[in-house]
Amino acid sequence: MKAVGYLQSLPIDHPESLIDLELPAPAPGPLDLLVRVAAVSVNPVDTKVRRNRAPTAFQPEVLGWDAVGTVEALGKDVVGFAIGDRVYYAGAINRPGSNAELQVVDHRIAALAPKSLTDAEAAALPLTAITAWELLFDRLGVPEGGGAGQSLLVTGAAGGVGSILVQLARELTQLRVIGTASRPETQDWVKQLGAHIVIDHSQPLRPQLVAAGVAEVEFIASLTHTEQHWDALIDAAAPQGRLGLIDDLSGPIDVMTLKRKALSLHWEMMFTRPMFGTADVAEQGRLLVRIAALVDAGRVRTTVSEQLRPINAANLRRAHELVESGRMRGKIVLSGF
Ligand SMILES: NC(=O)c1ccc[n+]([C@@H]2O[C@H](COP(=O)([O-])OP(=O)(O)OC[C@H]3O[C@@H](n4cnc5c(N)ncnc54)[C@H](OP(=O)(O)O)[C@@H]3O)[C@@H](O)[C@H]2O)c1
Repeated sequence: MKAVGYLQSLPIDHPESLIDLELPAPAPGPLDLLVRVAAVSVNPVDTKVRRNRAPTAFQPEVLGWDAVGTVEALGKDVVGFAIGDRVYYAGAINRPGSNAELQVVDHRIAALAPKSLTDAEAAALPLTAITAWELLFDRLGVPEGGGAGQSLLVTGAAGGVGSILVQLARELTQLRVIGTASRPETQDWVKQLGAHIVIDHSQPLRPQLVAAGVAEVEFIASLTHTEQHWDALIDAAAPQGRLGLIDDLSGPIDVMTLKRKALSLHWEMMFTRPMFGTADVAEQGRLLVRIAALVDAGRVRTTVSEQLRPINAANLRRAHELVESGRMRGKIVLSGF
């Protein structure tokens, strides 16, 4: 099968940072779907793994943790799927990724793809939707339908995770949603996705919140550059507020700064459930079912902003470059081999 991967960790401007490969097709384990991949998206995790996880003994690494495709074969213990189903999923960080014509994925973390979206439109969603959903409901503990009279501040709201988190918070809670974006095009994007208020993360946050009539925020989703905004986030937080993190911090943070307001800190890591095989791993499949229903009901839209074709090394290098720029608006997707 065709695949794209790498044999050495190299900067993305190196022609061999991602290369076209011919690899043997994988065989599904008892709980797996074997999927013929039609479209994939690229997330910051792809670029981080490429830079930091050197392949061993000339075994190429295949990246990609967002896919849409058709089920070609089923493991013996799979329930709820049939050959020919069109599925979408993020997969697991400790298994080969989706930048390959064929991929195996545990059926419990996959779901039928939204019917109303093209393959490319649907491929934008799984990883970021899982992250946003788990962060909002499982980690920050916002009750579905709840949050009346309270606010959620989302930093980096125009990025992949922010673009779906803003929509989920608007559709499924009563929170007042404040997103940050620093450029006219990303600010417009966050407004279009439904944020009540958009402020600029390149300027001090508190004065902008106060000017918008927000004295303090009960929930914070710090999606990127957390260390840069740390003091401002604590300043903006309401006493007993909840702070959620997903990004890789460049150094230690001082948890003592949370004490005065009795703030709580919550980590989201969307690979935790599949990586550790937690008892509730099937929650990811279930939430992807909910996301597909929201999309097909017209309540949530795809976050794709750029599309490339086909899925090959040259296009994946372009996509990695864009993601590494830190200026993504929504998601970039690739389709067809
Ligand atoms: N733990 C998990 O499970 C998990 C899951 C997904 C992602 N992540 C991590 O979370 C982070 C965000 O992911 P993503 O996919 O949303 O990234 P992304 O799409 O690359 O984010 C791009 C956005 O970041 C904004 N940004 C750039 N500099 C900023 C700054 N100094 N302050 C605030 N925002 C800034 C940009 O807004 P402007 O252009 O308007 O400045 C842009 O829209 C990454 O580090 C990723 O690896 C973790």
